Amino acid sequence: TPAIAATARILARLKDLPGPLLPVLHEVQHELGCIPAEAVQTIAEALNLSRAEVHGVITFYPHFRSQPAARHTLEVCRAEACQAMGGEPLAAHARASLGCDFHASSADGNFTLEPVYCLGLCAQSPAVMIDGQPHARVTPDKLDRLLARTLD
Ligand code: FES
Repeated sequence: TPAIAATARILARLKDLPGPLLPVLHEVQHELGCIPAEAVQTIAEALNLSRAEVHGVITFYPHFRSQPAARHTLEVCRAEACQAMGGEPLAAHARASLGCDFHASSADGNFTLEPVYCLGLCAQSPAVMIDGQPHARVTPDKLDRLLARTLD
């Protein structure tokens, strides 16, 4: 497959570096937009690691993703001021609405859910950002409206 071919090219270039795993993962994600399961297999074989070891590193670093990013990004502020103003129920609502956890995407591929740590809107918390656009005083209802509007 093209993903395996691209991964093999990257491995040929980087596998002799000391500590090649992270540079290889960065390059694969840069080129493919994510690190798909078939690439994990190829990387593990080339670097003499188990698939579980490679998978462990991918899940340890929030930067790496196993699925392509969704069309839109919802970032929910998890820092202190927002936590104090209902940020936790809001985060729970975001998870439930999208049906996925943080660092993952909704099954329909519409939204990736990410945490963010302070958007500078503490005085109007809780805050979220959708596709780079900040929104303040976000209630669960307001979040649903914002998400629906994003898909219009
Ligand atoms: Fe959420 Fe500052 S803590 S915007």
